[in-house]
Amino acid sequence: MADQLIIFDTTLRDGEQSPGASMTKDEKLRIARQLERLRVDVIEAGFAASSNGDFEAVKAIAGAVRESTICSLARANDRDIARAAEALQGAERSRIHTFIATSELHMEKKLRMTREQVFEQARLSVRFARNLTGDVEFSAEDGYRSDVDFLCRVVEAVIREGARTINIPDTVGYAIPELYGNFIKTLRERVPNSDQAIWSVHCHNDLGMAVANSLAGVQIGGARQIECTINGLGERAGNCSLEEVVMAIKTRRDYFGLDLNVDASQILAASRLVSQTTGFVVQPNKAVVGANAFAHASGIHQDGVLKARDTYEIMRAEDVGWSANKIVLGKLSGRNAFKQRLQELGIALESEAEINHAFVRFKDLADRKNEIFDEDIIALVMDEGVGSEQEHYRLVALSQRSETGERPHASVVFSIGQVEHHAESDGNGPVDATVRAIESTVNSGAELLLYSVNAITSGNTESQGEVTVRLQHAGRVVNGIGADPDIVVASAKAYLSALNKLHSKIERVSAQG
Ligand code: KIV
Ligand code: ZN
Repeated sequence: MADQLIIFDTTLRDGEQSPGASMTKDEKLRIARQLERLRVDVIEAGFAASSNGDFEAVKAIAGAVRESTICSLARANDRDIARAAEALQGAERSRIHTFIATSELHMEKKLRMTREQVFEQARLSVRFARNLTGDVEFSAEDGYRSDVDFLCRVVEAVIREGARTINIPDTVGYAIPELYGNFIKTLRERVPNSDQAIWSVHCHNDLGMAVANSLAGVQIGGARQIECTINGLGERAGNCSLEEVVMAIKTRRDYFGLDLNVDASQILAASRLVSQTTGFVVQPNKAVVGANAFAHASGIHQDGVLKARDTYEIMRAEDVGWSANKIVLGKLSGRNAFKQRLQELGIALESEAEINHAFVRFKDLADRKNEIFDEDIIALVMDEGVGSEQEHYRLVALSQRSETGERPHASVVFSIGQVEHHAESDGNGPVDATVRAIESTVNSGAELLLYSVNAITSGNTESQGEVTVRLQHAGRVVNGIGADPDIVVASAKAYLSALNKLHSKIERVSAQG
């Protein structure tokens, strides 16, 4: 019988640590529902002790998701662990994931603790967590750069205290596949009680090897849990990408011989939801979920694929959800069809009034755009803040004038709280003029770090433009996303959405802090 490989998704925790990727409770809930449909085994829903917002998000996910185990991260201290347990109370199956750094560098410079202090804290924290739940995971942060003798001692002790999963992160993405695989193998051979825990890999992508390292941890090291994120979202170069490891294990079952619970046909929907929620655009040549991943552009390839698919295709596009990329609704679609599609997309709008509100916007979009795709519906809900937190800044109307040889001019009406403002400005282009007009009233003092435009659905110029704006202010980085068939309007919405996030002042403690 083949071994089972556990897929532990940390998009909502480690992925969210990516600057600008922070999500609201509703956004997290929506993604968690999609992860449940994807049938990941464990959803790391957040870091409950880091902020009230994260606590509420973990609690809401624990109450809503039934099929996957819900996990919260906690530093190795009683307060964090108790807070995680409290947030997880409503879960069908829950896990507390506690961690402490074990490398000399992190212990000395970051924690300012001795080896013995770290050893004791790890042991006592796992003991405390085990009194609150039967499913405890322990992570040795910066494990891969830790002294192997010390790491063996810590791991043996925490397994004795009842940790059932042992995770060895390559926190800084320093590992090389063969070396990382052998490191896990050595630990499993040297820790006397290693067979009493499931071993897990957690790799960052700084050298572009997170997926390869994770697979080596499984194949050489014998790990049976992979920690990963949708689209490889995560700080710096990101985490191990879920879609890539899952499809590697499935496509090369002949080599890995492992079974997965994941329903791969939900991968594309998950990828799009995460990218549209966070504004982290998926590169076109990204494996599995990139727009070109299954596009056979060259004539030779097309000819081959038409004659026999497997000449150039090692996976079928429909197996990862590409066939779901179909027209779902149009101008004549009624409210019931719209409501049903929202449900299928896991978008839970609280009240009939909210559904009506979203339906009016849908009709407005359908008047301007013939074919409405799933991505359009997700964007519509995201963009208008339907079902999410109250908006402080909101676009009311925009007009702009640009003509060859003339300096573009924009006139923007938007509300701040309950008060409507009208602002005008010139600019280098219509987008620049729009942003200048908004800033002439708001004076946010924010620095623009990124501006990008993307077509939501590929194929024609009728697509909505999706704009991502990244702003930095007072040490915080936020992403705003806006969508509209008119990219200047989309830009204004994205800019105001970023200002809303800065205004919401969500503060949280960093896991690595
Ligand atoms: O990368 C890391 O070490 C982590 C731990 C907190 C598990 O994310
Ligand atoms: Zn990590």
